Amino acid sequence: MYPHHPMSRDLVEVLYDEEQISRRVRQLGDQISADYSGRNLVLIGIMRGALMFLADLSRCITIPHTMDFISASSYRGTTQSSGFVRIYRDVELDLSESHVIVVDDIYDSGRTLHTVVDLFRMRGARSVEVATFLYKEVADRAKEVHVEYPGFRIPNAFVVGYGLDYGELYRNLPVIGVLNPSVYAGK
Ligand code: IMP
Ligand code: MG
Repeated sequence: MYPHHPMSRDLVEVLYDEEQISRRVRQLGDQISADYSGRNLVLIGIMRGALMFLADLSRCITIPHTMDFISASSYRGTTQSSGFVRIYRDVELDLSESHVIVVDDIYDSGRTLHTVVDLFRMRGARSVEVATFLYKEVADRAKEVHVEYPGFRIPNAFVVGYGLDYGELYRNLPVIGVLNPSVYAGK
């Protein structure tokens, strides 16, 4: 399906290829560079899903900024959200003078983002906005969050690649694709 990457055999469809991804990330980088000019910007990636997006986005932002990471998840290795959010590793930077952009792989149920955005507001960040590589069209979302910088809108399907995993695998696929349900059927 994506010849030079054998793992792509487990996809039923490629939604966005490398070229489309890099073009979109560059647009977001330009937009953020303009919006945050002269401000103390920090990108905070939600690990591990945001890894690829954060690395690419940061390199497309042309103004000075810092970055940090938080590990938080409402998932436990399945394809369904578990309903609670756990923080495994916290940020190290002091955010009180900062304009924060929370960077995540996907806006799905909204639970993780909602929790993390609230946390950074409570800690006194000057502003908190959200950038997600994917914005899933979900009919009834558990928590609504405003995503100022959405990459691509996708239908409500389980996707992998570009940081998104199934059971911690597939993050290294350079494209975004819909995972063949036979991979997780019966699990
Ligand atoms: P939420 O808290 O339910 O919005 O879950 C957010 C996290 O769930 C994301 O950061 C992803 O790690 C994971 N997730 C949600 N949808 C998908 C998907 O389609 N594929 C892979 N991971 C997903
Ligand atoms: Mg994640």
